[in-house]
Amino acid sequence: MRRFSSRSSSFLPEEYTNLKPFLPSLPPPPIGPDGTPVSPDVLAALFPSGMIQHEITMDARVPIPKEVRDAYKVYRPSPLVRAVELERVLNTPAHIYYKYEGTNPAGSHKSNTALPQAFFAAKDGLTGITTETGAGQWGSALAQACNRFGLDLEVFMVRASFLQKPLRQTFINMHGGSVHPSPSDRTESGRSFLKQDPNHPGSLGIAISEAVEVVLKEKKSCYSLGSVSDAVCLHQSIIGQESIKQMEEMGEYPTHIIACVGGGSNFAGIAFPFIEKMLTGGAKIDFTAVEPTVCPTLTEGKLKYDFGDASGLTPKYMMYSLGAGFVPPPIHAGGLRYHGMAPLVSHLVKLGLVNPIAFKQNKILAAGKEFTRIEGILPAPESAHAIAAVIDSALEAKEKGENRVILFNLSGHGFLDLAAYEND
Ligand SMILES: Cc1ncc(COP(=O)(O)O)c(C=O)c1O
Repeated sequence: MRRFSSRSSSFLPEEYTNLKPFLPSLPPPPIGPDGTPVSPDVLAALFPSGMIQHEITMDARVPIPKEVRDAYKVYRPSPLVRAVELERVLNTPAHIYYKYEGTNPAGSHKSNTALPQAFFAAKDGLTGITTETGAGQWGSALAQACNRFGLDLEVFMVRASFLQKPLRQTFINMHGGSVHPSPSDRTESGRSFLKQDPNHPGSLGIAISEAVEVVLKEKKSCYSLGSVSDAVCLHQSIIGQESIKQMEEMGEYPTHIIACVGGGSNFAGIAFPFIEKMLTGGAKIDFTAVEPTVCPTLTEGKLKYDFGDASGLTPKYMMYSLGAGFVPPPIHAGGLRYHGMAPLVSHLVKLGLVNPIAFKQNKILAAGKEFTRIEGILPAPESAHAIAAVIDSALEAKEKGENRVILFNLSGHGFLDLAAYEND
């Protein structure tokens, strides 16, 4: 029995794959204050031209720039591993595979989009990037990418996570980036939330408002988003593309695909290339997106036009949302504390192609600990949501006597999240 796919460099894709041309319908476009679709010119105030192109393209295949592919080569293809020990302990007939995105220098799938975003900013001659981060994985990935392409970086980090994960700040600083706890007194948005509550725990929506405000006012840097947008989903398609080839090499094809969802990008990464195959005649797959019960965007939110940030500075997106002002409790899976969801992932849920579920923090931390003991890899609390769902699915396969092939995205490692497990 094979446990690992080889990591042949021929598995590293040369193109991103775009699910949009294969969908039976598209989500309605983002709209501005007058209710009409935002034009690329509006986006130009925030994003580099290459990112706008990736946001709107309807090409099925989009070339990966050579400079980005060279940067990917440092850590891709990422490993695909069969979790044989977990299968043994669960005594399940299911075969369980994970795609491990925690092996890169920043430790999560976020590098897959940080590198092209920094490349496009540098290509347009910009001097820096301003962004938000939740648990700090996105800030870490972007810090490294900015360092590689010679850009400054300013990060607004959700205050609850800033306090829980101080070493993230050290990591970002070491790569030359600066970090503010958000809400901060650096921006008008931040000051208004601090006025309401000087110890405000923050939210991704507020941190996005701060970053967008700085870019719109100071015009020195561009804005960069670690999830949600169509362009980010496009970049993450390399995860699923590699998985298709690696699963082929293992002689298997998944019946079930599972990933956690915050803004939806790691789910999009592993799922979209398989959804393309399914929509073009491939075998049916059961897709599950896992979120926290305290931030139940897909399971309890409404599909509506809503702002991407808390202060109404961004366009409105058609997405599942808990309301732009929603502030979730400070759980350890900081990357899953977002009020909205990628419009493309939202649309797939609406079409019935993706099944959302929600878990409590104690369940996912227990699953993360079990996985660490059994498989020897410490997952980020975000990724532990997927693991909890995998364990349930494998046990259900045992109960029903089904031969499932479960593939999940292990989106990042948890070395800087150890306090979460310690306090549980
Ligand atoms: C390790 C990890 N997994 C998942 C997520 C959730 O984001 P997304 O849904 O965009 O993949 C994050 C976000 O910070 C993360 O750091």
